[in-house]
Amino acid sequence: MSEVIQQTKTRCFGFNYEKFADSDYQRPMPGQYESLIQPIFKEINSAKETSNLESMSIAMRMLLCAEESAFCIFMAESIHAKDSLPPKLAFELIRQFRRISWEEDRHAIALGSLISKLPIIDDSQNPTRMARKIFLKIQHRDPKIHFQRIAELDRTACIIINSIIKSEYIKKNFPEMKKLLRLITTEEASHIRTSKLYVEKLGGLSEEICERESIVVVTELTKIMKFVEFSFESLGIDTGEIQKNLNRRSAFIYGV
Ligand SMILES: [Fe+2]
Ligand SMILES: [Fe+2]
Repeated sequence: MSEVIQQTKTRCFGFNYEKFADSDYQRPMPGQYESLIQPIFKEINSAKETSNLESMSIAMRMLLCAEESAFCIFMAESIHAKDSLPPKLAFELIRQFRRISWEEDRHAIALGSLISKLPIIDDSQNPTRMARKIFLKIQHRDPKIHFQRIAELDRTACIIINSIIKSEYIKKNFPEMKKLLRLITTEEASHIRTSKLYVEKLGGLSEEICERESIVVVTELTKIMKFVEFSFESLGIDTGEIQKNLNRRSAFIYGV
């Protein structure tokens, strides 16, 4: 019961899985990451500074919001893609969208269970509402632009998670968390490839538009980063480096 209450409290989108009940989607089992999660619980329990656990809770809530947003987007597209593409191509992409949805769902479940062990955050510090607003704002009705932005969002997620992994504080106090975060970024890299492939199959976008859309996403992400800057810095995460990498667009995204 307490697990259910916690999950509801930590939800970003409060999305309703029943919305997808008529599809053949099967959620990951809750124990999927058990062997990775349990050691992190131990790290959380033995952490000495409560304020740093609060900062961790803030960082994880921001990431959870990104995961839930990505789940909703890929799940919805797995249902709609069949109307926008030739049947053969749609079949393959739908399969990939389903796989990605499942992975995003798995990331969300893992982060949600970590958050349930971390402190509850005061509304004034909780990035959930702001993140939800921004992720909704980033959506676009043109699927090409929409998925260009999703690829860019996944790129920014990789940058942020990589900086968390590189923090000396995290390395020293939460070495097990590093393993989970590394696994997430590996999967995110494949999501970028699929989103970009989808944009191409829909007819592609000029470099100029890709650049413009990247700026849209980075501008919005910068707002969240400003909001969580203090918490990130207190965990030894270099927010200056995050911002520098967010602004350095093309090299990463076209190289993936
Ligand atoms: Fe993810
Ligand atoms: Fe993703």
